[in-house]
Amino acid sequence: MYYSVIYRSSAEPNFSQKEINYMLLKAKQHNKMQGITGCIIYSNNQFIQIIEGNKDVILDLYTKIKADDRHFDVTTLIEEPSKEMLWDDWSMAFYDFSGTAEQNNYSRMLLETYFENANSKNKSSEVFLTLKKNVIKLISTI
Ligand SMILES: Cc1cc2nc3c(=O)[nH]c(=O)nc-3n(C[C@H](O)[C@H](O)[C@H](O)COP(=O)(O)O)c2cc1C
Repeated sequence: MYYSVIYRSSAEPNFSQKEINYMLLKAKQHNKMQGITGCIIYSNNQFIQIIEGNKDVILDLYTKIKADDRHFDVTTLIEEPSKEMLWDDWSMAFYDFSGTAEQNNYSRMLLETYFENANSKNKSSEVFLTLKKNVIKLISTI
């Protein structure tokens, strides 16, 4: 049994693109060592992130993320045990919607492909539906 958390948050105005990229580089290394997978979407100064892995490891990371002062208004969208990891190939996939229209369209295409190609078991899971619904809402405003 795994554990999944999805939250949304707002980036601090001074959390620059360069710093976000560096944070993610370190996050990926940490996640890989701890068997954590997931994805993060950045759009309109908002983050939506899913983290999944063993329960203790995920609760530990989520406590750190909630206390991280580079973002605020961290709101839990779902937090529950799950049978499967949705992002098992990714130590933290990043979909950035803060670039040019062309780059944003590319990120949108990649995400939509992911949502379409998920296997049918995943597609009906509460975690998948929560992620999809909230991500679509977030990126529909750009
Ligand atoms: C939006 C956001 C997402 C983050 N995602 C991760 C993550 O997936 N993995 C990770 O190790 N740290 C992530 N962090 C960084 C953690 O909050 C924390 O800085 C990191 O785990 C290092 O903590 P430590 O030095 O106290 O061990 C994220 C931070 C922010 C603001």
